[in-house]
Amino acid sequence: MKKIIAANWKNNGSKKFIKDYFDYFLKNLVSNNEIIIFPPDLYIDKLNHYRDKDNFNLGGQNMTYVCDDVTQTSGHSSDMFIDNGCNYILVGHSEVRGQYTACNEAAKSLYVSNDLQVIFCIGESADAKKNGNTQNVLIKQLEDLCKKGNYPKVNPKKVIVAYEPVWAIGTGNIPKIDDISFIHRFIKTYVSENHPFLKEKDIMVLYGGSVSLKNAQDILSARYVDGVLIGGASLDAEEFTKICNLKI
Ligand code: 13P
Repeated sequence: MKKIIAANWKNNGSKKFIKDYFDYFLKNLVSNNEIIIFPPDLYIDKLNHYRDKDNFNLGGQNMTYVCDDVTQTSGHSSDMFIDNGCNYILVGHSEVRGQYTACNEAAKSLYVSNDLQVIFCIGESADAKKNGNTQNVLIKQLEDLCKKGNYPKVNPKKVIVAYEPVWAIGTGNIPKIDDISFIHRFIKTYVSENHPFLKEKDIMVLYGGSVSLKNAQDILSARYVDGVLIGGASLDAEEFTKICNLKI
């Protein structure tokens, strides 16, 4: 089954890194999965040189929400990402979520996402998990996704949510596979019941947080998992390519 395999390079990379990375990646990629790479904004255009038909998709790591008539220093609009070959955008990643009030500012950028396919990141903190508050926290974050004022101007045919427990990011710890399936199902049900025009089949949920070659097959084979969003392991061209090549 075709899955989404996404690489979030965060603030890593250089021109040399990119050359070495794609020397390996392009020689060894034999994948039927949908691959998305989110490089730092400054290198997005550089990656266009390595694209050939649909070998991989490009995305931006964050988009600034600005009203149509407001200017913002350091802002990036959806049109700029599209102009640079992107078709995806990450919104509300936990590493930038703190700059907003919860998810609601991030969710507003859905409204101006135009033709970009948004990947909306949610996830509970270690404290929330410890206190049994995971589902309450996720509901709060998903409410913003489903809020009427945040619907994109161009209505999406699908929504992609990345479930990234904050306590799993960069720690080597992952939830039990059954817990990942349980939460993904919970997300699909919540969104389909609260979003007026998206049905359960239109809602894809990716898992992110310490995905590696060791656990990727098990995670990707789990029920209700439509793909993975990978940080650290995606910086190793060999490891990432092998994950892309997995057959599920
Ligand atoms: P790690 O895979 O390094 O835990 O990072 C996950 C992540 O934040 C992807 O967006």
